[in-house]
Amino acid sequence: METIRGRSSHQLDFTGLAERLVGYNHIRLDLGTGDGRFVCHMAEKRQDRFFIGIDACRENLRANSQRKLPNALFIIASAQALPQELNGLISHVTINFPWGSLLESLLGSEDSLVSRLLSVTRPFASIDIHLNAEALVTAGWTLESGADQIERVLNADGWKTTSHSWMDAHLLRSFATTWAKRLAFGRDPRAIQLSVQKE
Ligand SMILES: C[S@@+](CC[C@H](N)C(=O)[O-])C[C@H]1O[C@@H](n2cnc3c(N)ncnc32)[C@H](O)[C@@H]1O
Repeated sequence: METIRGRSSHQLDFTGLAERLVGYNHIRLDLGTGDGRFVCHMAEKRQDRFFIGIDACRENLRANSQRKLPNALFIIASAQALPQELNGLISHVTINFPWGSLLESLLGSEDSLVSRLLSVTRPFASIDIHLNAEALVTAGWTLESGADQIERVLNADGWKTTSHSWMDAHLLRSFATTWAKRLAFGRDPRAIQLSVQKE
């Protein structure tokens, strides 16, 4: 799989990944990580855990992927083709403010993402998804109906809901992703958090 560090990219195989993960029991995946700010923030905060950020777009990752954090790794991949090297490793997934094909896949137009999420995660793994109104409206849904649809898709694939709640501008401001800050100060700061767990 292709990993990125600043302007350089490197291929990392099963063995190389296993070496990076020695000593970490919790491996977290941030899908559609954007500029990687959330991964860096969490890696600094929880040095006992390993954080992997994945995005299809490399440009936004240049700056944060250069940071020397032993427990963080950035991978360039499409969410619909998650690297085989990750199979069975991930204990928790975050998907923060998805848009485009990542959001479309969650809404169920393609089944490859949800089935790959089952493959890359461990038993009893959990997923936290944060959805914003504008992205869902662009995809042809309301915030509420889109969140309900994503919940249905996940529930049908073996992920049971543990929470489904609203986020307001105050909560968005306190959330450590670049997009959350943008939304918090934007014209439609409504979002929903959906949490599910593998059955
Ligand atoms: C609105 S941004 C959110 C970025 C970040 N999670 C945050 O909260 O700041 C959505 C991200 O999803 C990524 N994305 C969209 N479709 C994707 C796909 N199919 N595979 C991987 N990443 C995708 C985009 O490149 C973009 O970085």
